[in-house]
Amino acid sequence: MAIETRAEDLAQAVIDRMKDCKDPRFKSVMTSLISHIHAFAREVQLTPQEWMTALEFLTATGQKCDDKRQEFILISDTLGLSMQVVGIAQAKAIAANQNAVSATPATEATVQGPFFIEGAPVLPLGADLQGSLAGDPTHYSGKVTDLDGKPVHNCAFDVWSSDTEGFYDVQMGENPPMQLRAQLRTDAQGRYDFWSVKPAKYPVPIDGPGGAMLLAMGRHPFRPGHMHMMLRAEGFAPLVTHLFVSDSEYLDSDAVFGVRNSLIVDFNKHPPGVGPGGRVLDKPWQSCTYDFKLVPNA
Ligand code: BEZ
Ligand code: FE
Repeated sequence: MAIETRAEDLAQAVIDRMKDCKDPRFKSVMTSLISHIHAFAREVQLTPQEWMTALEFLTATGQKCDDKRQEFILISDTLGLSMQVVGIAQAKAIAANQNAVSATPATEATVQGPFFIEGAPVLPLGADLQGSLAGDPTHYSGKVTDLDGKPVHNCAFDVWSSDTEGFYDVQMGENPPMQLRAQLRTDAQGRYDFWSVKPAKYPVPIDGPGGAMLLAMGRHPFRPGHMHMMLRAEGFAPLVTHLFVSDSEYLDSDAVFGVRNSLIVDFNKHPPGVGPGGRVLDKPWQSCTYDFKLVPNA
């Protein structure tokens, strides 16, 4: 009886040990993972020192995480894996809803990133998130519809962004107050609007193992300016996306591969005067409009 397992048979031997696994999906994912990691180690002829370096890297990644910092997400994002998973999920949701009368495609999804906070202040339409923060007041507006253009009423519409220097509230020391984030609700016509700032480009955090990996790969850490949105409405698949600032640097080399052409928007400049909602502006302001299309739940 053969006792030892030859290196080329190791992957299959590990897979065979899962014969009593009760969860078919878990078994199928693990079978593929085991096959690929063994093939990878053999392809690159991984040395014990290199594998130890990788294990130390994963250990340091775990140690960097706390309730405000998620280094694994950063690594997944910068390796493009988050966008791969986002793309798979959205393609499935769309395929399950092939609808001959749909006039336009669903709004594309992109990465959530690590700076979303559940429980942002619920504010009325037209609210000003900027307050006394620097930058041109910027008005965001548009509507949320289904794939056939029917308004989606009462959609929970979360928005969050960096300031004009590229910093999120959660990056500003211990227990910083929330800023530049809110949850709105669309009206009966599916409309949303709010005031905020025009977000700036910024680097993803590079003070941890994720940053060390990025720099060792010879890559820059920047993301182009973007406004985050999360749309949740009854009967529809949740949508996590951004609007990207069309004149921002790094649109062509986003550190997390999140840019979609369909999500790049122009920001229009306006002189001081009366703006949307009758707001009187004593300095230049900007505006951006975008309509979102949600996919129904399968
Ligand atoms: C963000 O856009 O907030 C973000 C996304 C991925 C990694 C870091 C930040
Ligand atoms: Fe962001």
